Amino acid sequence: MNITKYIYNQILPKLFKLQSRSGWIPIVKDLIKTKKRAIEYLDLRAGNTVLVSSVGAGFELGFILQKIGTTGSVIGVDFAQGMLREAQDVINKNKWNNVQLVQRDLREYQPEHELGYKVDAVLSNFGYLDDEVLVRLIEVLKPGGRIAISGPQPLTGFRKILYPITFIPEMAFGLTWKSLHDMSKYMATLRKECNDVVMNENTFGKYFVVVAGQKPIIDKN
Ligand SMILES: C[S@@+](CC[C@H](N)C(=O)[O-])C[C@H]1O[C@@H](n2cnc3c(N)ncnc32)[C@H](O)[C@@H]1O
Repeated sequence: MNITKYIYNQILPKLFKLQSRSGWIPIVKDLIKTKKRAIEYLDLRAGNTVLVSSVGAGFELGFILQKIGTTGSVIGVDFAQGMLREAQDVINKNKWNNVQLVQRDLREYQPEHELGYKVDAVLSNFGYLDDEVLVRLIEVLKPGGRIAISGPQPLTGFRKILYPITFIPEMAFGLTWKSLHDMSKYMATLRKECNDVVMNENTFGKYFVVVAGQKPIIDKN
């Protein structure tokens, strides 16, 4: 087990569960705002099927289920058993029977092949991404389906003074300097593969960003 997986399995699950009660901390408030904004961009409707990539402790599930109702469904993927245990706890407490959790490493997960169907929306809130994972997440969308990703991005200009209270604490959650700088690549991929791409960085010193887009009805390539 590598160190990131160990941290996500053993150390962070309880912390993530506290997220909804920590909204009074300025940076957490903006983090939550960013995650909810990403869900808004998905423009979810009753009956939609949503793939939540890096579902973690299930923080987003309630917001999504409010929109898709009991006729919709969610597939949540994450590689950390500890995180999924917390998510399952939330599911059981709320008696949601339309959420399925899948324990998989996204670097190996082939959503389209493994699900056997396409989904209406994909969400990756502060989740694991690399170029191939992102392409696969777009592939599993139905034509016209929406994807939203969110996460930190590099600070610019005078805002760099915020690094000690943004990037540095986030290193405890596995954020690296490289992954911080990868966000611009993912924006470029969404612009290439999707239509109506929007970017919203109206948060903490523009540190958190949401990028969302719609899969074309006719293939762009
Ligand atoms: C920062 S948390 C975000 C969780 C959730 N989306 C939220 O906003 O509360 C990142 C999640 O990504 C998961 N993760 C990291 N790398 C992964 C990988 N390679 N495959 C699957 N999940 C991964 C971690 O286990 C963790 O639950």
